[in-house]
Amino acid sequence: MNLFDFKDRVTVITGASSGLGADAARAFAEHGADVVIMARRKEKLDTLAEEINAKGKGKAFAVQCDVSNEESVKNAVDSVKERYGKIDILLNNAGIATGGTIETLSDEEWDKAINVNLKGIIYMSKYVVPIMKEKNYGRIINIASINALFADKPMALWRHPYNMTKAGVIGLTRGMAASYTQFGITTNAICPGLFESEMTANTLFKTEEFMKMYNGLCPASRPGSRGELNAPILFFASEGAGYVSGQYLLVDGGFSIV
Ligand SMILES: NC(=O)c1ccc[n+]([C@@H]2O[C@H](COP(=O)([O-])OP(=O)(O)OC[C@H]3O[C@@H](n4cnc5c(N)ncnc54)[C@H](OP(=O)(O)O)[C@@H]3O)[C@@H](O)[C@H]2O)c1
Repeated sequence: MNLFDFKDRVTVITGASSGLGADAARAFAEHGADVVIMARRKEKLDTLAEEINAKGKGKAFAVQCDVSNEESVKNAVDSVKERYGKIDILLNNAGIATGGTIETLSDEEWDKAINVNLKGIIYMSKYVVPIMKEKNYGRIINIASINALFADKPMALWRHPYNMTKAGVIGLTRGMAASYTQFGITTNAICPGLFESEMTANTLFKTEEFMKMYNGLCPASRPGSRGELNAPILFFASEGAGYVSGQYLLVDGGFSIV
C-alpha cells in the first residue's frame, strides 16, 4: 500500500488562494488527488489551478466560495458533487487572524472572526458530510492553531477572537469525530505554530523584535518553512489513518513543550 497515494481522491480545500491552503493543494495534487480549490479570490485560484494542471499529476478545479456565507458554500459543494459525484477529503483551512481584546473589539469584528473561522467549517461540513456518508468514507481536517491552546502573553499579541474561534475548532473536531467516525469519516485538527503566509508576512514576520522573541521561545529556533505542514495534513487525509479520529496535532517546532 502506498501510504500517500491520493489518486482519484476528490479533495476540497478552503482558503486555497494563498499560504498554507495553496501549499496543501500542491501537495495533494503531487500525490495524485483531484483538488477542488476554494476561496473568494478567483483569479488567484485560477492561477494556482493552471500551475497544478500544467504539472500533469493530480488535477485542480477552482471554485469561488465565501465560507462565511451558507448559500455560497452550498452552491460550491453542489458544483463539486455535480462534477465528481463524491468528496473524499475536506481540508477546512480558510481562516482570519482577528487581533484585539474583549475591551477593544466591536460586535462586527467578533462576528467576522466567528463567521469565517467557525461557521465556515460548520457550513462546509454540513454540506460535505452527507456526500461522504453516501460512500461511507471521508477524511476531514480542520486547521486550528496553537493559539487555540495558548494565549500570546509572552509575545504580547492580544487576539481574543483568534484564541476563542480556534479553540472552538478543536471542540467541533471532537464532536464531529464522535458523530461520524462510525460512517468511515474521520475528523482531526492541526494546530500550526508560526508559518509565513499572507496572514503573517506583513505583520509578525515584519517585526524583527517579534521574530527574535518567537525564535527564542521555539525549540526549533525558527518558524515553520513552506511545505512543512503538508505531511501532517496528508497523514490525517490518508486512507491508512482511518483509525485516527478526534485528535489534534501541534506542528510548531516544539513551541508548545517548553
Ligand atoms: N500562518 C500561520 O502562522 C498560521 C498559524 C496557525 C494557524 N494558521 C491557520 O492556517 C490557515 C491558513 O492561513 P494562512 O497562514 O495560509 O493565511 P493566508 O495566506 O492569509 O490564507 C488564508 C486563506 O483563507 C481564505 N479566506 C479568508 N476568508 C475567507 C472566506 N470568507 N471565504 C473563503 N476563504 C477565505 C483566504 O482567501 P481569500 O481571501 O481569497 O478568500 C486565504 O486563501 C488559517 O486557518 C489560519 O488561521 C496559520
